Amino acid sequence: MTQRSDLPAWKALKRHHANLSQKRIKDLFLENPDRFEDFHVRHENLLFDYSKNLVTHDTMDRLFDLASICQLEDWRARMFEGEAINTTENRSVLHTALRSYKDKTIHVDGEDIVPGIVETLDRMRDFSDTVREEERFTHIVNIGIGGSDLGTSMAYQALKPFSNRDITLHFVSNVDASNLTEVLHEIDAENTLFIITSKTFTTQETMTNAESARAWMKRVLGKDDVSEHFVAVTQNVEIAQNFGIHDDHIFPLWDWVGGRFSLWSAVGLSLCISIGFENFQKMLDGAASMDKHFRSAPVHANMPMLLALIGVWNRNFCGHQAISVVPYDDYLSLFPAYMQQLDMESNGKSVTRDHEYALYPTGPVVIGSKGTNAQHAYFQLLHQGSDIVPCDFIAFAKSQSPLSDHHKKLLANMLAQSKALMDGLDHEQPEKAFEGGRPSNIIVADELTPYTLGMLLALYEHKIFVQGVVWNINSFDQCGVELGKKLANNIIDANSPLEMSTDSSTSGVLSFLSQKKFS
Ligand code: F6P
Repeated sequence: MTQRSDLPAWKALKRHHANLSQKRIKDLFLENPDRFEDFHVRHENLLFDYSKNLVTHDTMDRLFDLASICQLEDWRARMFEGEAINTTENRSVLHTALRSYKDKTIHVDGEDIVPGIVETLDRMRDFSDTVREEERFTHIVNIGIGGSDLGTSMAYQALKPFSNRDITLHFVSNVDASNLTEVLHEIDAENTLFIITSKTFTTQETMTNAESARAWMKRVLGKDDVSEHFVAVTQNVEIAQNFGIHDDHIFPLWDWVGGRFSLWSAVGLSLCISIGFENFQKMLDGAASMDKHFRSAPVHANMPMLLALIGVWNRNFCGHQAISVVPYDDYLSLFPAYMQQLDMESNGKSVTRDHEYALYPTGPVVIGSKGTNAQHAYFQLLHQGSDIVPCDFIAFAKSQSPLSDHHKKLLANMLAQSKALMDGLDHEQPEKAFEGGRPSNIIVADELTPYTLGMLLALYEHKIFVQGVVWNINSFDQCGVELGKKLANNIIDANSPLEMSTDSSTSGVLSFLSQKKFS
């Protein structure tokens, strides 16, 4: 099969880069003082500025050609229409249906999935309204991991100003009991609702935590039936029932929703309780707006396409191995961790849809943490390190916490970093010189609201989809997480290190841990 790197459009981009790399980004601004006008795009209240990348109109046209040759429009239609584009798992990829369902019929295996979505949203509304009105549960503990944790915890943090402050959400994900233990110190059993969130309801970490939470609840309340304190969000209804969860406390998931794309489903139930259904719906509406934009805007004005293609340019033609996601908003402090799963679990693959090794780099390493803290930590490397790490800076015009001149300083820092990375600085002392020429994107909106957050998350989801199409990989499976799970179970199942047939490192460390009474 033809590799993407064999395509004439790819080769043309390689040659184009060889010529363009003689220039510096700041030169492009000197050549075209209106460069921002040409290299930014808006959708509603969201602005994406990609002018501080080493790209020209010619670059963009060539990237659009590449996307077109990779049949991006066709793949996009196939995703939205519910074709099983997750071929390794033979599944549709329809997280978009969870928010873009209004006035639509969407079929999977001949069945319209919209009524199930609407019914589940209605149940989420009723349930969250009841919990908020009854004022009994003041602590909600979401037990889940990966996609069953990261989206909800990130969005809860992001939307704190919209949350009901009388209800505290807690997140238990790690199989390390310290996670659960610390949460148990903060809650009281009578007023706590555990939501076990697991698509499969078999994930080791989640089930271990769920069982320990149930045992704790029984012990503290001194009764065997603690079912009123437990809710499940799962596709695996039978196991949830066997766990002791009542049918009216089980919220469904479907195999056409991937874990890392599942915030929009009942996986977001704890968030929905915290911010209320209306706000949850606004988050869905923001994402739906981005879906519509992604489906309909021409490629040169299409924000997810542009964000993705700039990423492809930086990865495959400029050769940058990592990206840094830096939100200049404290409420988005968990956004980089969420983005790591979204991007790296989706595109951290090196086998193409044609079952061949890709002869070109695919998904970048994603790092990130909140600005300004990141500036005082790893930004040294971004400015003067031997690797170039393109940045996505994210910020909002209006602060949710206006206080003195904090926000002015915050935004000034963001703009300064982006400019410093691009401009660099000449200095007679090499240690004090900044090479510059380091690309960055800026994404800004008026305010961090449920609606804006929905748009932002969908923007990145679609970026990752576009890149997967260009790299000819399946962005929707996660085979790479399986081997470690299997080996961990082998180690758990072995009675002693001596039983293990393994390498000397594994058995040596195991033997040390056993001597130290590891249990
Ligand atoms: O191990 C990876 C993974 O499968 C993720 O993709 C998923 O979000 C997570 O585990 C949790 O899975 P589940 O929701 O089935 O517990």
